[in-house]
Amino acid sequence: MDDNVNNLIEMARNARKKAYAPYSGFKVGAALICDDGTIYTGCNIENISFTPTVCAERTAIFKAISEGNKEFSKISVITGDSKPSPPCGVCRQVLSEFVGPDFEVILATTSGEVEILKFKELFPYTFEPNDAIGDN
Ligand code: THU
Repeated sequence: MDDNVNNLIEMARNARKKAYAPYSGFKVGAALICDDGTIYTGCNIENISFTPTVCAERTAIFKAISEGNKEFSKISVITGDSKPSPPCGVCRQVLSEFVGPDFEVILATTSGEVEILKFKELFPYTFEPNDAIGDN
């Protein structure tokens, strides 16, 4: 596997150590690389009220956007599950606002499994900004 992919997985693995997941016990880490080479990491942050819980992927994406970085090429996501687990539907929708069909999603497990998908495979029928134009 190429060094960039390995590095992104390692950064997600470190970010996962910061996960705040006392309710589910399911810790997730993410690392997002921007076109200028900057990497933003994220972890999931849960809340006793449950709905404010944010996923690792969105933490990383919102960190990038809030720093003015909107061009990304890859995200890695790591869990301690037995098989790689993909971003949830909400994270896919958030990603679809900023990435194209060839954006790479690198799914990893702490035990060393890796699966790489294109965004178009993960989310083939997106709700595009053009779909949101009203008819009145
Ligand atoms: N979670 C993520 O961080 N990313 C996902 O794509 C799926 C779910 C988190 C949210 C929650 O803290 C825990 O995993 C269990 O759903």
